[in-house]
Amino acid sequence: MEDLYRENILDHYQNPRNQGTLEHPAISSQDSNPLCGDEVRIDLGLRDGVVQEVKFSGKGCAISQASASMLTEIIKGKTLDEVKNLSKQELLDEVGIPLGPARIKCALLPFKVLKAGVWGIGQVPEEDTEEWEVE
Ligand code: FES
Repeated sequence: MEDLYRENILDHYQNPRNQGTLEHPAISSQDSNPLCGDEVRIDLGLRDGVVQEVKFSGKGCAISQASASMLTEIIKGKTLDEVKNLSKQELLDEVGIPLGPARIKCALLPFKVLKAGVWGIGQVPEEDTEEWEVE
C-alpha cells in the first residue's frame, strides 16, 4: 500500500499539477523551510469566495513539491472558509506515508504557505502552526 503512495508522490513531483503563477492572484503567499531553504509560493484566484484557480511554484525536495501539487488539487473549487478550515491531516492523508519530524515539515511547507495566505500572516490558528515551532 505504501508503494502506491510513494508512486503517487513521485508522480506529483515529476508531473506537478497546477504549477506556475497567476498574473493577478487574489491571494499570493510564499515561504521557505528554515531548515533547508526550500521554497513554495501559492497563488489563488477567487470568484464569489471560491477558489477558481490555484497555482504553485517553488523549488525543493520531492515531498515538498509533491505535497504542494496535491494541495492545489485538494483546494480547487473549495470556498475560502473551507480552505481556512482545512486540517493538516487532510493533506498528510493524501501524502499517505508515515513521515518523520523533518519530512513532516517538508510535506507541510505548502500548507504553511497556504494558511498564511488565506488567514494573513500572524493570524493562522495555533493548531495549524504547531509543527513549525522550533524544538
Ligand atoms: Fe527542504 Fe524538504 S528538504 S522542504
